[in-house]
Amino acid sequence: MQLLDGKATSEQIKKELMLAVQNRKKEGKKIPHLAAILVGNDGGSLTYVNAKVKACELIGFESTLIRYDETVPEEILLAKVQSLNEDKSVDGFIVQLPLPKHIDELKITQAIDPRKDVDGFHPVNLGNMMLNIPGFLPATPAGIMELLKRNNIETEGKKCVIIGRSNIVGMPLSVMLSKNTNPGNCTVTLAHSKTKNLKAICQTADIIIAAIGQPGFVKEEMVKEGAVIIDVGTTRVLDANNPKGWKLCGDVDFEKVAPKCSFITPVPGGVGPMTIASLMINTLRAMELKGK
Ligand code: GUN
Repeated sequence: MQLLDGKATSEQIKKELMLAVQNRKKEGKKIPHLAAILVGNDGGSLTYVNAKVKACELIGFESTLIRYDETVPEEILLAKVQSLNEDKSVDGFIVQLPLPKHIDELKITQAIDPRKDVDGFHPVNLGNMMLNIPGFLPATPAGIMELLKRNNIETEGKKCVIIGRSNIVGMPLSVMLSKNTNPGNCTVTLAHSKTKNLKAICQTADIIIAAIGQPGFVKEEMVKEGAVIIDVGTTRVLDANNPKGWKLCGDVDFEKVAPKCSFITPVPGGVGPMTIASLMINTLRAMELKGK
């Protein structure tokens, strides 16, 4: 078994981006500027947004964090999205999800200018992805593709089972892995809560990608010997032994599954850092696509 080390891979990407920023500075070009909107105090979202801001600082991007109380009205958020769309100093921005129930996520996502949608969640960017038109790819699926590519994981002709059909991970990743690209050319099964015989389906998979947010869901008996396992889960679970009082848990029963795999991503240190690296790649591209 070999660990697919997302932390190490993302650090390499960040180094490359750092160099790109230094070169832009030398050429007198604009430095990329990422803004992030965070609503409320959800611990997981806060951790992720802070990590995004920290990555910007490390690479040399400008960053702005905009925070709102849990109770912020939808109109205020929409107005902020509009002002970021128009703000020439901001190259790309994200609205961290999930949003409180009284806010329509789709309405907010659709209000973002697709040219600044570095999360790749806007329908225009998802459509572009389907048709191989340059745009922004959703950060987590793109991060997984980059992790597979940089670690030379063979995907062509492989049977890949993705568990979870979310708009931001499972659904777009099923498209990306089906494409005639490298990585890609997989035969993809997109499994979900209504899937029958999931265990039997998983047992035939060369690659399993778990993205459902249920700690330890993928068990040893679901995994074929030598399979590649990608764990997208990041659920906070109470842990009295941890100074923080919690630990991050993936969707895979790592201890039992790891010995059977050829490659497996850890949690933390697997997909999470790759999501952040992809967002940084997209932010640099936001400027390049504008020809800045
Ligand atoms: N919530 C979980 N993952 C993501 C992500 O990649 N981007 C945003 N904006 N919210 C998320």
